[in-house]
Amino acid sequence: MFDLNDLNKEKNIDNLVVGGAGFLGSNLIDFLIKKEENVICIDNLSSGNKFKIISLDEALNFNLDKCEKIVIGASIRYGRHNKKVLDFIIRNKNILDSKKTAFFSVNVVARKEEKSTPETNPYMLNFLKKTNWKPNKLSVFAGKVDYPNYNFINKIVIRFIMMVTKGPTDINNSYEFTNWENVRKFAKELEKL
Ligand SMILES: Cc1cc2nc3c(=O)[nH]c(=O)nc-3n(C[C@H](O)[C@H](O)[C@H](O)COP(=O)(O)O)c2cc1C
Repeated sequence: MFDLNDLNKEKNIDNLVVGGAGFLGSNLIDFLIKKEENVICIDNLSSGNKFKIISLDEALNFNLDKCEKIVIGASIRYGRHNKKVLDFIIRNKNILDSKKTAFFSVNVVARKEEKSTPETNPYMLNFLKKTNWKPNKLSVFAGKVDYPNYNFINKIVIRFIMMVTKGPTDINNSYEFTNWENVRKFAKELEKL
């Protein structure tokens, strides 16, 4: 992990990805790194991946103003994006409004075609209304249902939700709905921001 003081001394950062340590965000970072862009990641560190640089809590003291592009992503847990991500956006709204920005949401409702776009995904619509933020680029990605890695309660509740919404219910399996080609396209479009 970098020392936050060292990070604050960096002159220029191509991409800041908030929510980059999770399943979707870390793959997005992989694409950006391959394009030799430098990337800083901020995350709430909840989903055990290797890009863990600054925790969302520590990021309170991070100066966003030097970042050229800012990409923020958040996944859904029981109908909501992480409140800390929303707070981060609201707190930094003036800086975000002065930058090239993108936001992506990850949820499994987006596996349904009719709820898979920023205009039709209910979580994205709710997010835009709550934050009143207008990023230059928006995207919704379908995530995964990962029963084997859920605790007992989550297994039961998510299986029930899947049953009602006609999704997969075998708790011995993991189901990935992500269209990686769309993620690649999104990463490419970030270059053009
Ligand atoms: C506890 C829990 C609750 C979830 N609730 C929802 C939900 O209400 N709606 C939805 O569309 N997806 C829901 N999901 C699915 C996640 O958004 C999806 O698994 C995503 O891929 C998680 O990405 P992450 O590991 O990067 O956070 C839930 C997942 C978990 C583990």
